[in-house]
Amino acid sequence: QSQQLPAVKLLEWYDRSARLMPWRVSPADKARGVRPDPYRVWMSEVMLQQTTVAAVTAYFQRFTARWPTVADLAAAEDADVMAEWAGLGYYARARNLLACARAVVRDYGGVFPDSAAGMRALPGVGPYTAAAVAAICYDEPAVVVDGNVERVMARLFAVQDPLPGAKPELVRLAGLLTPALRPGDYAQAVMDLGATICSPRNPACGICPLLGLCAAQQIGIAAELPRKIAK
Ligand code: ADE
Repeated sequence: QSQQLPAVKLLEWYDRSARLMPWRVSPADKARGVRPDPYRVWMSEVMLQQTTVAAVTAYFQRFTARWPTVADLAAAEDADVMAEWAGLGYYARARNLLACARAVVRDYGGVFPDSAAGMRALPGVGPYTAAAVAAICYDEPAVVVDGNVERVMARLFAVQDPLPGAKPELVRLAGLLTPALRPGDYAQAVMDLGATICSPRNPACGICPLLGLCAAQQIGIAAELPRKIAK
């Protein structure tokens, strides 16, 4: 069954109110056909795992100013990269970042693979990052699922089963909604919605672009979802 309406509503909302971030292409540049740079998108997605946009932005600016291309980063000293990462946390990400940059240069001539499957072959690149880069940079309708997307799907479809067991169902629902057109903007719209309006504790359902489509909101349990099995 086709589920086009949520994606249409989310893309309209994204066009009205997307936050400009240093790794995104501005609406004016987009109109001129400018595409996102895979190096910058990949770096932003690695930094954004377990870290907020607000915390990542300054780090992203410093990294890309110091190492503007993947070849520059691949040639960096390990200690310089680790020092620049200091404060962002989850330091395995910095080591993976460097290993991946070096693999792109050594094995792919400095050009990122142009598909999610190709991205997955790179060291430290998991299903989330591969799908996000492929959708955002190449408009591949890859299914992008992070914690924000899980929460939005759980609420939109009132999935009451708890995580982690509900995860495959949430991925399936995310796949049903992913549009063939503009999947990258769509993925970023869902993540933005989850990071702002569809927040974990006090969702702002009154201003949500999916108001009227959201099953959990209609039965008054949005703030309770997704349920989780206590660890
Ligand atoms: N969180 C992770 N990746 C993101 C992106 N590209 N846009 C907004 N939030 C994100």
